[in-house]
Amino acid sequence: TVPVITIDGPSASGKGTVAAQVAARLAFHYLDSGSLYRLLALHARRSGIAWDDEPALAEAAAGLPVEFSDGAVWLEGNDASQDIRAEEIGIGASKVGALPTVRAALLQRQRDFRESPGLVTDGRDMGSVVFPDAMLKIFLTASAEERASRRHKQLIGKGESANLAQIMQDIIDRDARDAARPVAPLRQEPDAFLLDTTELTIDQAVDKVLVWFEE
Ligand code: C5P
Repeated sequence: TVPVITIDGPSASGKGTVAAQVAARLAFHYLDSGSLYRLLALHARRSGIAWDDEPALAEAAAGLPVEFSDGAVWLEGNDASQDIRAEEIGIGASKVGALPTVRAALLQRQRDFRESPGLVTDGRDMGSVVFPDAMLKIFLTASAEERASRRHKQLIGKGESANLAQIMQDIIDRDARDAARPVAPLRQEPDAFLLDTTELTIDQAVDKVLVWFEE
């Protein structure tokens, strides 16, 4: 079977960056599962579907016209890579992601990314629900202060205005919602390795994952 490495964890923990670099080092495929929830939230916003309209969202999720290519995500043929990163869309993603039929509609789509020679994927339930038979599961986290500060730097770097206290509050609220939902709640699986990156650089975190992979 095709090997899978799952990296789950809270928002702004750096799991996406680490997962993408691990994939590059191993020449494996990479799936940022959060982007699917973000794309759905964005698509809903654009088509006038409310973020709590479960039947309409589940239907949209099943037929979501997305494509990952050339390092970008495409929604209905338009590059949505920037738009899905808005804080507002992250909040929408966590709202639509709380709906069980939406998650069910996205399940097979995610599993289809498992292709030779291997897959590295990050999200909230990659190790628990989507790829329970993954060969290596990581729970990647960092303190809320550190995560807020990283996100803040990222936004400032992009030339956007950002309020650290507000970012911190959004992160705490989103984590609470992700952890409290009845389906696929955010939590460390018993068979997942804990990787706390509060005091680690990206390179150190990537190396740690590769060491576990090779063991
Ligand atoms: O990881 P990212 O911040 O892009 O995810 C956005 C939101 O999508 C998360 O807050 C979470 O609620 C939801 N999500 C999820 N399951 C995943 C990935 C993301 O519920 N596997």
